[in-house]
Amino acid sequence: MKEKAVRYSGYFDEYELASSALLHAPLGAMLAISDFQVEIPEVLQAIRFHTTGHQAMTDFDKVVFLADALEPGRDFPGVERLRRDVFRDLDHCMLLMINSTLEYLKKKKWLIHPRIYELKKKIKGKLEKQYGATGISDSLR
Ligand SMILES: [Fe+2]
Repeated sequence: MKEKAVRYSGYFDEYELASSALLHAPLGAMLAISDFQVEIPEVLQAIRFHTTGHQAMTDFDKVVFLADALEPGRDFPGVERLRRDVFRDLDHCMLLMINSTLEYLKKKKWLIHPRIYELKKKIKGKLEKQYGATGISDSLR
């Protein structure tokens, strides 16, 4: 994977080059172009950021992010509830998924891309505007 990353150097940031868990997202977007002739910017963006997200995620980006996180092979605590609730409130599920991911990454002591903290702040702010600072959990009741 690193050899292909070097071939597309400049497209990857320092965090992605330091972690194959992070690298597979931008590399996947590049392979979608080179090996599958995908040219739809919205699709490439969703693949590119499906691991860390980004501050200006579209609903399509969020669906791809959550589809990857909640696919049938995933078995982390709470995954069944998230699979059910994702159809009720996309942003709330994004926040829960981000929190779960951060907890997992910290426990494993894996590299955390700062983009995911920016995304968490953005989504939390949006939910607080919508439900109030203490009412976010009401969105899934
Ligand atoms: Fe992935």
